[in-house]
Amino acid sequence: MRVRADSGSPSAIQADVLAVPLYREDREFPADLAELDAASGGAIRGAIDWGEFNIVENYTALIDGGSLPVDKILIVNGVRRGRGPWRARRIGSTATRRLQGRGARSLALWLRDGEDADGFAAAAVGALQGTYRPTSIYGRVRDTAAMLRSIDELILIGGPEQAVLDRALIMAEGVEFGRTLANRASNDLYPERMAEVARSLEADGCTVEVLDVDEMQALGMNALLGVGQGAAHPPRLIAIRLPGWESHPDRRLAIVGKGVCFDSGGISLKAPERMEEMKHDKSGAAAVIAAARIVARLAPEIPLMAVAPMVENMPGANAQRPGDVVKAMNGKTVEVINTDAEGRLILIDALHWAERQGATHLVDIATLTGTHATAFGELISAYFARPRDWGAAVQAAADATGEWFWEMPLATEYRASLDSAHADIVNSGSREGSFIKSAVFIHDFVTMPWVHIDIAGSAYLTTDKSWNPKGALGTGVTTLARLALEFPGEAG
Ligand code: BES
Ligand code: MN
Ligand code: ZN
Repeated sequence: MRVRADSGSPSAIQADVLAVPLYREDREFPADLAELDAASGGAIRGAIDWGEFNIVENYTALIDGGSLPVDKILIVNGVRRGRGPWRARRIGSTATRRLQGRGARSLALWLRDGEDADGFAAAAVGALQGTYRPTSIYGRVRDTAAMLRSIDELILIGGPEQAVLDRALIMAEGVEFGRTLANRASNDLYPERMAEVARSLEADGCTVEVLDVDEMQALGMNALLGVGQGAAHPPRLIAIRLPGWESHPDRRLAIVGKGVCFDSGGISLKAPERMEEMKHDKSGAAAVIAAARIVARLAPEIPLMAVAPMVENMPGANAQRPGDVVKAMNGKTVEVINTDAEGRLILIDALHWAERQGATHLVDIATLTGTHATAFGELISAYFARPRDWGAAVQAAADATGEWFWEMPLATEYRASLDSAHADIVNSGSREGSFIKSAVFIHDFVTMPWVHIDIAGSAYLTTDKSWNPKGALGTGVTTLARLALEFPGEAG
């Protein structure tokens, strides 16, 4: 997709389709749309009066351009949330998704409200996001010409300088890369295969290290290894370093993503309903690898390392049992009460390893708890931070790229409820407050500024939406990339 800005008027723009948002708050026909409506010969007002677009049921309406230079006008439910980039990203993805398979090639987008560079960049990211087809991974393409048609030119009315849009496209490609990794099936993408994917980042100037089972055993990563011991596909620990990592020993960011290629629950086996969704349990790993690729392409001098502990959580004769005690890499012992609380076990070893590698700031991202999905649904990712200003940096990165993040309290008083009769800590406590306790558990193993992001609900959609298809969303990719881009080392 190509993206460019145009300073012309919406009534004069030349494109196949002109997309315009409309809002629930727009009870009266909005004054700023009057000129466009008049130029179209009343096409917009006519479609709304006729009921073609009504915010509640018909989220988008494709109407004839009338006397305008464009063939069609696309009205999009704008969902104004007071967050520029979030709104812009949603409008962008809804517009291009609505036009999939249609005859349109070029789309002009008029966001109406003034946007800054971040808003326009988010609209571009959204627009590419809306052209994504999960079926392109494994599906038989029935009719290439018709099926794969989508917008290949985006014109942002009133948009920013071209450099902003060029960077946005690299972000957008990274989101797509992360989404496809997260969507891939567990029989196709298992730990060793993810390591192959990671090695492809060497072409972007990254240094890629992959630890195998023997190497992890030597390092004492028994919390991670215990999770993977029941699977036929052995675990791997992937580390991707940008060139800037070596040059900034005093200030280094490690982003650590949960990479459970399939989470059956292990011996604490999950119920069969919707178990197929657990191929998405590697979404955190996909996000950190994709973010590393973006940053490597935009600013290789950033001191960034992406770490992806990769395992498959399976039952079997050699699987970890409830009650087993493992010694984590940092020397603490963990009583594994529930083998389905596996994400925190692989994260504690990966985070501790990142500290030993010289990280000074940590962020982990994980599809960690069903309670996140229950409480927040698919729209919002939740995070815990210590100290809280490091969390504020993550929040700012999310806001700037149009991801919806919300802070949760890291109530370390709950640590006592994780006491074990046989080890230093249990991996799963009582149901009450378990969402917070999952973060408190990880907190026990980190010693530096750290943010834990739970994306269990927000990593993927369980049904098609007007703004994205069912499947992975690439959640966290732009936030992590932006966080890293705003994280220059002391020397530069
Ligand atoms: N991968 C799951 C969490 C999950 C649930 C992600 C639903 C996406 C959708 C995680 O490993 C898990 O099983 N968590 C348990 C923890 C519990 C045993 C303490 C959960 O949330 O039930
Ligand atoms: Mn689990
Ligand atoms: Zn899991």
